[in-house]
Amino acid sequence: MDTKIINDHSIEEAIQLLQAGQVVAFPTETVYGIGANALDEHAVAKIFTAKGRPSDNPLNVLVPNTKALYYLAKNVPTYVEKLMEVFSPGPITYVLQSAGKVAENVTANLSTIGVRIPNHPVALNILHQTGLALAAPSANLSGRPSPTAVDHVIHDLMGKVSAIVDGGSTNVGLESTVVDCTGEVPTILRSGFITVEDIRRVVGACNLAPSIQMPSNKYKHYQPEVPLILARTEGQFQDIVRKKKAAGNRIGVIISLSFDDINVEKIFSLGTDEVETARNLYDVLRAIKKSEVDVVISAPFPSDIVMDRLASAATKIV
Ligand code: TXA
Ligand code: MG
Repeated sequence: MDTKIINDHSIEEAIQLLQAGQVVAFPTETVYGIGANALDEHAVAKIFTAKGRPSDNPLNVLVPNTKALYYLAKNVPTYVEKLMEVFSPGPITYVLQSAGKVAENVTANLSTIGVRIPNHPVALNILHQTGLALAAPSANLSGRPSPTAVDHVIHDLMGKVSAIVDGGSTNVGLESTVVDCTGEVPTILRSGFITVEDIRRVVGACNLAPSIQMPSNKYKHYQPEVPLILARTEGQFQDIVRKKKAAGNRIGVIISLSFDDINVEKIFSLGTDEVETARNLYDVLRAIKKSEVDVVISAPFPSDIVMDRLASAATKIV
């Protein structure tokens, strides 16, 4: 398949392709998404094929506004209204009872649907101009890190989608917080920048689900080309670097800042503050090449969400 690269100032072609049941990747504020008409089963099936995504992992759906969310969902609890007032548009996906409007393959035959209103001008433009709800998971091959730059999307999906809209780098760099809103109290299924404390501040209560409850959690995520070892403490980090070095491995390290007194083949710096580390993480995971290193060892980071994603990518945690 020919994949057109479309400039974000001329998205008419992307609009037409989506309306014609084709698949188009485009930027959102979190990560790039791969979108198709959520009401068209054939169009949605193309997303699963392009990503190599298991069919039992449901897709979240992007909509332009709350009205469209109420169309796709039923029995929406009143606390969701409060959450939307504060956090939407933004990096939060609400899991709600499905009203049965979207194609069955979107929700993997679940009775619930994940809906998000993105906060990105290109994504919102596409949603408004197509007039569609778009099933739009992250635009990576299944198992690979989510794409935070157009080059990542091109690497994974060139030849597999009809078009890719180039909208530069994404702002947040990590996927949305996924919140199950089917119960009396919201429950976080996937952590993100909107935290359990943020939600409690708005609606009083919020639970954190054991990670096993997420349909996607039985699959490995964000995997780099070589094994990744995540250290929980600075001491463990130093220790494992020394051991792997002594065993003759070519070593890459993921650390906050580059420094000189470490004898390894590759240093991947994530930066210091939480926003910066989150933004850089997936780019770094993609920059790890097996031609250059045999193993990558990550130092611990203060950010919980960065640690959560690193743990998902890790072959081993020490
Ligand atoms: O920030 C984001 O959410 C990005 C952008 C593109 O919108 N999308 C994204 O999609 O990260 P994806 O498919 O990589 O992650 C969506 C997650 C999946 O882990 C999926 O299992 C979960 O949301 N999900 C979708 N529908 C669900 C449902 N009905 N119940 C529980 N989890 C659901
Ligand atoms: Mg994903």
